[in-house]
Amino acid sequence: MRRWPEFVQIKEVGPRDGLQNETKRVSTADKVNWINMLSDSGVSEIEYSSFVHPKWIPQLSDAHEVGKKIKRNPDVRYSALVPNMKGLKLALEAGIDGASVFMSASETHNKKNINKSISETYPVLGEVIKEAKQAGKHVTGYVSTVFDCPDEGIITPEQVIRVCDQLLAYGVDDLSLGDTIGSAVPSQVEELLEAVLARYPKEKIIMHYHDTRGMAIANIMTSMEHGITRFDSSVGGLGGCPYAPGAAGNVATNDVLYLLHGLGTKTGINEKKLQEAALFMQNKLGKALPSKSLAYVAAQR
Ligand code: HMG
Ligand code: MG
Repeated sequence: MRRWPEFVQIKEVGPRDGLQNETKRVSTADKVNWINMLSDSGVSEIEYSSFVHPKWIPQLSDAHEVGKKIKRNPDVRYSALVPNMKGLKLALEAGIDGASVFMSASETHNKKNINKSISETYPVLGEVIKEAKQAGKHVTGYVSTVFDCPDEGIITPEQVIRVCDQLLAYGVDDLSLGDTIGSAVPSQVEELLEAVLARYPKEKIIMHYHDTRGMAIANIMTSMEHGITRFDSSVGGLGGCPYAPGAAGNVATNDVLYLLHGLGTKTGINEKKLQEAALFMQNKLGKALPSKSLAYVAAQR
């Protein structure tokens, strides 16, 4: 029997989670070219921007224009982050295949990130999920701070499940569980996944690791040992959450591909094209991106 999955599905979140934490503004034209490169790499889903308040995330204030200008590849699902009905309306006008709603398992992070308590957030997201489903869109529910919160400390699996149950009851298609501050070690991943997978089918679960302490690859391995085959990652390892200070970017798609392809697991993504996309953004931002496998490739040139 194979120890590792035959196929792993990657959602590329660089244009949203990656750019949202970058202070240097990237032009709309560069974003569009970059997303087109990603669309051509074989990735099946791209979270291309965020329809949040522009004051909260200025870098992504051109979400509408980006959505209108990108070349749509019929094999790619184009999704965007949506916090409320206003965001959903704008996202539908710009063109999305999927809406990603988000909230936190931690009360404090939820408040800092979306200015509401957990219980105030439920009806807002309930309405967004209902409308998005009625419009025929795929809906992913992000749950942040599933292991630790910078303010509250350890978050228990019960706290995570409480939020997951509610989002699933509202009708999300799947759940993306976020190690927002990149603090988890594999034993925490095991504890959470044992609780989560006793309750929901593994196909519904996506793991979303930030790589603040370099643990993300180890956590992906542990997740795969538990049967998880869906991960979010960011080209070059760009990113972070502006409302979780110090948190690094997502695990780099380039490093995840190096791992998976080395294990003989298919992803459908062309590693070389993904590297080109990472080098493109590295050049635009004028700084080295965190991905180690990208640094190796860049050094060969
Ligand atoms: P608020 O100030 O409480 O909003 O912000 P409000 O409903 O009170 O409205 C205030 C004003 O904002 C109104 O305008 C609204 O129209 C406007 P006014 O009448 O005063 O002129 N407004 C909007 N404008 C544009 N787009 C909208 C929108 N909504 C209201 N969608 C809000 C609440 C949720 C909007 C705000 O807190 C916000 O935008 N937060 C987003 C924060 C964010 O993007 N964080 C990063 C993403 S989450 C993340 O990275 C974690 C994740 O990756 C998973 C993980 O790693 O764990 C997903
Ligand atoms: Mg994130």
